[in-house]
Amino acid sequence: MIASTTLPHTPDAVSDRSLFDELAPHYWAMDFVSFGLSNQWRQRAVDELRLHKEARVCDLMTGGGNSWPAIWSHLGTGGSITALDYSEPMLMQAREHLNPHHRETVQLVYANVLDDVLPDAAFDAVLCTFGAKHIEERHYHRFAQIIHRLLKPGGRYSFLEMTLPTDRLLRFGMLTYMGQVMPLLAKLLTGHENSFRHLAGYTRQFGNFQRLETAFQQVGLETSVTSIWGGCASILNGRKLSKPL
Ligand SMILES: C[S@@+](CC[C@H](N)C(=O)[O-])C[C@H]1O[C@@H](n2cnc3c(N)ncnc32)[C@H](O)[C@@H]1O
Repeated sequence: MIASTTLPHTPDAVSDRSLFDELAPHYWAMDFVSFGLSNQWRQRAVDELRLHKEARVCDLMTGGGNSWPAIWSHLGTGGSITALDYSEPMLMQAREHLNPHHRETVQLVYANVLDDVLPDAAFDAVLCTFGAKHIEERHYHRFAQIIHRLLKPGGRYSFLEMTLPTDRLLRFGMLTYMGQVMPLLAKLLTGHENSFRHLAGYTRQFGNFQRLETAFQQVGLETSVTSIWGGCASILNGRKLSKPL
């Protein structure tokens, strides 16, 4: 089911959204151009949530539901996923990947995450894989407040994102791969190149989790950052403190 809610209206949100609308039918190629690493890293991010079988999981900026297999590997029949995204074509892709076995456990929500449409303290866990770089820094405080509000006390969150390694050579190699090689490979696989090229720009602009981590700490979330592959990706994770700071 897709629950329609408030749609993004700010001009910057709209232009970002059209990028994802365009990318949606080709997004499957990311698994190939990352040589399977993106799925390995998603599994790692989900493992950080320490899910129990009946957990209620919120998957923010779900895209094509790319993290669901990793979540399902932890959930039993009582568990559920609420998956939010503001690109309808992305949600359509996600819905196509739903098998009958899991259909009842997933609720799709069509909304801008910053419109804060999900219920209070409803989730044992909040996940966001490769979505954080699309939140502008000026919205970090609000974004952190939303994550805090969605989680039950003691609930855990995990955010996975591509980040810039401090080692210059590694950073150069990563940005060259993402900005030049990956779009060409994607074009070979899908015939489409443009929106893949933009992803490197977002990664360069995002840098690392430092500023988002500070915003999370300010609202009362515990934080810890794990670096993967020399800093090419990182996981920001932790839990909502049972009592406010
Ligand atoms: C790079 S994709 C990541 C998708 C998926 N989570 C994954 O692991 O590959 C980023 C997703 O975030 C969504 N997105 C970006 N900004 C958003 C916002 N403000 N509200 C809701 N969704 C947003 C896009 O539509 C896109 O599907």
